[in-house]
Amino acid sequence: MKIGTPLSPSATRVMLLGSGELGKEVIIALQRLGVEVIAVDRYANAPGHQVAHRAHVINMTDSAALKSLIKQERPHLIVPEIEAISTEALAEIEAAGIAKVIPTVRAVQLTMNREGIRKLAAEELSLPTSPYAFAESLQQLQAAIDNGIGYPCFVKPVMSSSGKGQSRITDASQVAAAWDYAASGGRVDKGLVIVEGQISFDYEITLLTVRALCNGEVQTQFCQPIGHVQVKGDYVESWQPQAMSALALERSQLIAKKVTDSLGGLGLFGVELFVRGDEVWFSEVSPRPHDTGMVTMATQRLNEFELHARAILGLPVDVSLLKAGASAVIYGGVDATGISFVGVDEALAVPESDVRLFGKPESFSRRRMGVTLATGKDTDEARQRAKLAASKVRPVA
Ligand SMILES: Nc1ncnc2c1ncn2[C@@H]1O[C@H](COP(=O)(O)OP(=O)(O)O)[C@@H](O)[C@H]1O
Ligand SMILES: [Mg+2]
Repeated sequence: MKIGTPLSPSATRVMLLGSGELGKEVIIALQRLGVEVIAVDRYANAPGHQVAHRAHVINMTDSAALKSLIKQERPHLIVPEIEAISTEALAEIEAAGIAKVIPTVRAVQLTMNREGIRKLAAEELSLPTSPYAFAESLQQLQAAIDNGIGYPCFVKPVMSSSGKGQSRITDASQVAAAWDYAASGGRVDKGLVIVEGQISFDYEITLLTVRALCNGEVQTQFCQPIGHVQVKGDYVESWQPQAMSALALERSQLIAKKVTDSLGGLGLFGVELFVRGDEVWFSEVSPRPHDTGMVTMATQRLNEFELHARAILGLPVDVSLLKAGASAVIYGGVDATGISFVGVDEALAVPESDVRLFGKPESFSRRRMGVTLATGKDTDEARQRAKLAASKVRPVA
């Protein structure tokens, strides 16, 4: 394992495909290790563009454009930060020995589509999941619900994230609207939706799971579980550690181990699980840092971005928690470009609080523009502080 000098022939080069707030933090972690970083996104001045050595704007679903940029930049590692990427291009690049894809091309392929990861988890690995079916038309969707999924259920495009195109429906009158919303909300219109029976969980967690080298062998380590609250499929608040029974934690780690063993490669994964009592269901997994994991910027010795950076470079990791903490989302509140934030001073006057503003050039009312972080004597106190701090930051057009 060696790291070269950035901007010289010896440089260790990493290319981020997707440079949002999560990519930005991965880039900062890589910069601190002396890595040369190339940030790619679909729009100019994305958060990660602002902290990388070089920035590019391309459509990452365009296979030819992506391959030509990779051949021009010659990264050693390619780190997908989003799901909308031409995996065909990634497969070709890796097969040609040009660069290594993190964690693996197969993992990126399987997790970008709910069909791939759900079939792997439920059918190949026999992990407990919600009941589910896939539908290609409104008629098929209705039939799937009538033939066993029932109500309430969740209808989601197979390719989407952050709750986009997702509905929770409680009776037959809502099926057509859910179908239309899924068909329009998906990233790539594949006309395929998943319908999932609702799991009535006590709480849901993200179990950050790291596959890193230890004495030349891949070792799996788990961060303390992160609890979170989702509104319309989008995370608004998270905290760590989430209190759990010993059995629920053991089952969660077993599920996370099975899924990440199957996906393979090196790096950090965000395994989403539903928990009721001692029962645990697998929901989905990101083969990269997770939005709810931003709380680790306040709680862990190495945050999830530093863990990812270390793991992908083949370096050892340390998943230890230092203090209970929480994060709360700051939404744009307005549709405008070049907005300002007032009240950051008031937010930072909250004890043990911190603020991250992502620097996104354009705000939408429900776009995540920043987060607050806080620690406390327990997660209750940390959550109160993080939410109070977030309420003080006011976006203005
Ligand atoms: N089958 C389900 N049962 C209960 N809650 C669900 C179910 N599916 C989704 N949810 C809720 O919606 C949130 C977002 O769903 P998820 O499948 O994670 O979509 P995304 O990929 O957009 O994050 C979940 O974190 C959970 O709160
Ligand atoms: Mg999710």
